[in-house]
Amino acid sequence: MLSSQDIEKIRQDTPGCIDKLFFNSAGSSLPVTQVVDRQIDYLREEAIYGGYKTMAKYASEASEAYVEAANLLGCESHQIAFCESATVAYYRVISSLRFEMGDVILTSELDYISNFIVFDQLRRKHNISLAFLKKDVDGSFDLEAVRKQFTELHPRMVAVTHVPTSSGVVQDVAAIGEICKEFEVLYVIDGCQSVGQLEVNVKEIGCDFLSCTGRKFLRGPRGTGLLYVSDRALTMNLVPISADGDTTIWQSADEFEYGNTAKKFETFERSYSNLLGFGLSLKYLNSVGIQNIEAYNTVLGNHLRSGIKQKTDILLMDQGNRLSNIITLYHPSFQLEKVISHLDQHKIYYSIARKSMAFLDFAQKGVDWAIRLSPHYFNTIEELDEAIDILGSMR
Ligand SMILES: Cc1ncc(COP(=O)(O)O)c(C=O)c1O
Repeated sequence: MLSSQDIEKIRQDTPGCIDKLFFNSAGSSLPVTQVVDRQIDYLREEAIYGGYKTMAKYASEASEAYVEAANLLGCESHQIAFCESATVAYYRVISSLRFEMGDVILTSELDYISNFIVFDQLRRKHNISLAFLKKDVDGSFDLEAVRKQFTELHPRMVAVTHVPTSSGVVQDVAAIGEICKEFEVLYVIDGCQSVGQLEVNVKEIGCDFLSCTGRKFLRGPRGTGLLYVSDRALTMNLVPISADGDTTIWQSADEFEYGNTAKKFETFERSYSNLLGFGLSLKYLNSVGIQNIEAYNTVLGNHLRSGIKQKTDILLMDQGNRLSNIITLYHPSFQLEKVISHLDQHKIYYSIARKSMAFLDFAQKGVDWAIRLSPHYFNTIEELDEAIDILGSMR
């Protein structure tokens, strides 16, 4: 567990958290100073020596980023690819899969909008259809019913967002992973909102792919994302449409030898200052320890939820057995413009989650928007108490 001295040190490393109540790590979090300095130093050096010389000089530092990512996710570094965002990683995965007319994708109503957009494109091009993993009344997966769906629908792929953008619920991705393994179905996880705030182990989940972004709970630079690819998927010779000459050998006129590591999901051209900065963010997070982060985040999340419940009449919108640090709030009498100006005036940093980004979830909850707060391990209990009072005074 993090001590108060640990948290003080983390706050010192995070100058952005000092003069405000920053609860938007699910949007774009605050990086530590070391990461920003590394990026700027790299860019300065690149401007003097050129991109290629500088890249070669720091090749071994870049390779450490893969080791840090692999340590965090519980895999090997050859299974890691760095991309420009979670969405980029995700569509590269989808572009590598072979869909046929009439294929079924099993997913959840809580999946991210970009993933639904990719599925919509597949529907238009390959006439695939979507089915939703069956749930119990309490919102958790009904595993018996899900097993039946596998037998009846023979899905080509199962795709689940671990923690949705619009709700703090943690979906039981490991339980679905076991069924995917039993039926040998490809399993794709969107870990964008879980990696960095919770312990996420790809082997325990049993997924073939997991994508996530850098800027959220991992506190990395903007324009970064990462992808895990299982050895099973690597041996299936899946190649994304974006594969380039960096990882491919042109053997004869129409023969290409594609690499057999996750790097084929990367492209040669990218920001190396971002890569090194992201590597440092991962190193920082690993040095704090994801178990410590998750434990402290649980304390923060519980404190915020119970304070809202006890001291205000604001509704907590997140539903499920296991909740994380995406906390969505709503009150029927609140007007959005007033909420925004009240929170801005009190220097609360937050997001508004909107139905247009989470249509199925919010349609079911009967709301058009919700305030989204996402405290992370640089926040304190005192900051939460202040925020609860500010929220409670909103009319
Ligand atoms: C669950 C989830 N998946 C994917 C994404 C997309 O991430 P990116 O903007 O890095 O592509 C987001 C962004 O909010 C998200 O919340």
